[in-house]
Amino acid sequence: MKVYIETYGCQMNVADSEVVVSILAGEGYEVTRRLSDADLVLINTCSVRENAEQRVRGRLDVFRMEKKKRPELIVGVIGCMAERLKHQLLEEEKSVDLVVGPDAYRDLPNLVRSAGTGLKAINVLLSREETYSDISPVRMDKNRVSSFVSIMRGCNNCCAFCIVPYTRGAERSRSIGTILREVEELAAMGYKEVTLLGQNVDSYRWKKEDGSITDFAGLLEAVAGVSPDMRVRFSTSHPKDMTDEVLHVMAAHHNICKSIHLPAQSGSTRMLELMRRGYTREWYLSRTEAIKRIMPDCSISTDLIAGFCTETEDDHRDTLSLMEQVQFDYAFMFKYSVRPNTLAARKMTDDVPEKVKTRRLQEIISLQGRLSAESKQRCIGQTYEVLAESISKKSAAELSGRNSQNMVVVFPKRNHAPGDYVQVQITGCTPATLIGDYV
Ligand code: SAH
Ligand code: SF4
Ligand code: F3S
Repeated sequence: MKVYIETYGCQMNVADSEVVVSILAGEGYEVTRRLSDADLVLINTCSVRENAEQRVRGRLDVFRMEKKKRPELIVGVIGCMAERLKHQLLEEEKSVDLVVGPDAYRDLPNLVRSAGTGLKAINVLLSREETYSDISPVRMDKNRVSSFVSIMRGCNNCCAFCIVPYTRGAERSRSIGTILREVEELAAMGYKEVTLLGQNVDSYRWKKEDGSITDFAGLLEAVAGVSPDMRVRFSTSHPKDMTDEVLHVMAAHHNICKSIHLPAQSGSTRMLELMRRGYTREWYLSRTEAIKRIMPDCSISTDLIAGFCTETEDDHRDTLSLMEQVQFDYAFMFKYSVRPNTLAARKMTDDVPEKVKTRRLQEIISLQGRLSAESKQRCIGQTYEVLAESISKKSAAELSGRNSQNMVVVFPKRNHAPGDYVQVQITGCTPATLIGDYV
């Protein structure tokens, strides 16, 4: 039996798809990269913005055509859209046989069997405990250099715009023992980088049997200790919870990458309050100053939302000035998109006209374009330790990798291969990458 799986949304979904494949492997399923070979099609979905859901609907149209040709094909929707829409998805998408939420993947073998008999199958129960901690994910990355390791699930924050707490349920941490075991296994397989994943890694908390508590700083330190050859990254940090202790642990370990993704969402304190983010502009700036003080070579990236409810030109200018002040190295930038049932959808009005949102987003994007270019310019002449990840897409004679700061670096391959650490001096850049050569 063959399963074809497509993954949308965040890194968490990428990690979950590997858990799903592992669970199905126990039932004799193998992964295929060709839809036409599949007995089972799964689409792991995202609900974070309206357009993320529309992309999935588009793919479901393609799967419906395939099912017309082969009526025995089972089509399943898993992940955040499955959780958000539940039965509605079965009603709206006639070709869908299976709907499974993020905490119900252990039930997939039963559900798939039942769908195989022609019944529609659904499980969207959320859990307070499930972390899939005992499941060894089946790695689906191509290069075997870098992998995700999930350290927690769900989210206990209530940012007014965000659907994630509704699709992923309450926050829970995974046991430190199973996290370390997974990282050790990856090291033994030759992996050179892990990215620890959680919606808010700074609230990681695990109580050991002896009663002692491990927080994120403690976990990070333990993971860094697995192997000096294994790079450690993590995502996402939350400005309200990121401690100096975490920054000091990062600074003390060469193999913890000097890169922090710290979503600001807005530069206006009024907006941040409405968004229920739990910090002010000044607090956010004090956190980025702490990063720069403790690790002058650390890169900072962010997420920004344009046009949240009641946003004025002044609020928007506060976002632009925050960007200038922090000098973000990279940013993900979005137009606000109302998500059903969130606090903002229930209690606020999506009153910034589409045209205004578009223009503000454009201004944010073009400013970030300049800041990203300046960030790359500052790298020219510097030498970095780069972990080679793959043969460059543009030329077989070049390798592509990343420096500690999470910037993509392209350099001549010669006798190096993916998985090698290489000292590269930066000689130039394009809008998206640094270009260099060996020292
Ligand atoms: N846990 C992370 C982010 C999860 S969602 C955090 O706390 O920051 C990823 C990003 O999507 C968010 O940072 C936000 O910028 C964006 N986002 C979430 N909901 C959105 C919405 N309704 N409209 C537009 N962007 C949204
Ligand atoms: Fe969403 Fe906020 Fe939780 Fe991030 S911290 S996942 S933005 S609710
Ligand atoms: Fe999307 Fe769910 Fe991740 S809504 S961003 S896939 S947690």
